[in-house]
Amino acid sequence: MSITPAAVDSLSSDSLSQFEESPLTSSTDAVAAEVRAGLTSTPKTLSPWLFYDEAGSRLFEQITDLEEYYLTRTERSLFTAHADEIIQRASQPTGDDSSPMLTLIELGAGTATKTGILLAATVRRQRTVVYQPVDVSETALAEASANIRDHIPGVTVRSQVADYTTQALPLNRLPNTRTLALYIGSSIGNFAPEDARGVLRNLRAQLLPGDRLLLGTDLAPGPAKTVEELIAAYDDARGVTAAFNRNVLTRINRDLDADFIPGAFRHEARWNPSESRMEMHLVSEAAQQVHLPANSAGTALHLRFAPNESIHTENSYKFTEARIRELLESSGFTLAHSWQDPQHRFAVNLATAV
Ligand code: AVI
Repeated sequence: MSITPAAVDSLSSDSLSQFEESPLTSSTDAVAAEVRAGLTSTPKTLSPWLFYDEAGSRLFEQITDLEEYYLTRTERSLFTAHADEIIQRASQPTGDDSSPMLTLIELGAGTATKTGILLAATVRRQRTVVYQPVDVSETALAEASANIRDHIPGVTVRSQVADYTTQALPLNRLPNTRTLALYIGSSIGNFAPEDARGVLRNLRAQLLPGDRLLLGTDLAPGPAKTVEELIAAYDDARGVTAAFNRNVLTRINRDLDADFIPGAFRHEARWNPSESRMEMHLVSEAAQQVHLPANSAGTALHLRFAPNESIHTENSYKFTEARIRELLESSGFTLAHSWQDPQHRFAVNLATAV
């Protein structure tokens, strides 16, 4: 996966127009504006979309293979165990809509590594399927298309380079088809609740009643899921997540000619129980100053860091069933069915557009 959500936590909810600066295009101007706003605010923040330059995207791929990072593996195992049932339920007739063929669209598809399981199940049921992966990364989409075409006969891939947080989705609707939108990987968790609602409402506005959404959500800790294992998932023993977090400083140095010393900030993963979210921080090891030269977004900045002062770089919300239901219902969907692993770590949720 190359790019994940433009998780811009500072954005307010119902105004997706605020995404219009299109941070995912990662122009230097967008980076400059975002970094200045975040590092001059109190407390200091950086938006998580800044993680995903080339090196950051590679590090994220490595994270998904880590023993501690159960999310990807668990969601994949849910797809493996339930793909036929997911597709069968998504295809169920509603009202006068008899036995519709599904068209699959995927938001933030990246290289679509897990999607093949669902596509293969769709081909088993209806022999052919049109699959429309949407992502901002052309190279990730090329890789996704090649993988799917080579391995799953019967799939027609129509990839589309777009930022699903700001742009209309390229829905190619054929007669007698129903859209199944995939938003998996718990990418929705990187948005603050109001912004998550904004993303789902934007999607809903482009669907028809009866269309379906398959939403992957990481779950809140419970009797079989401890806070310790959640923290380990964001602070692995090999330090890959720490490198992913610090890479944002390397990126800022490169893009904006700043002089961060990434090693002078330590990676911290914190569980925030009142917000039900994991947080990632970069914490200044000592008093230090960082210089950001003048650029398109403003004059030169001298940023002061106190010892132990943090830059808050990511939120990753963890959901209860009630919150999943509430998020879906307030965005124009109803929850039809959920699949969870035995330890209730992760849920794959099928919802219907109302
Ligand atoms: C992309 N997103 C769902 C990941 C998550 O778990 O929130 C990003 C990530 N951050 C640290 N590790 C993985």
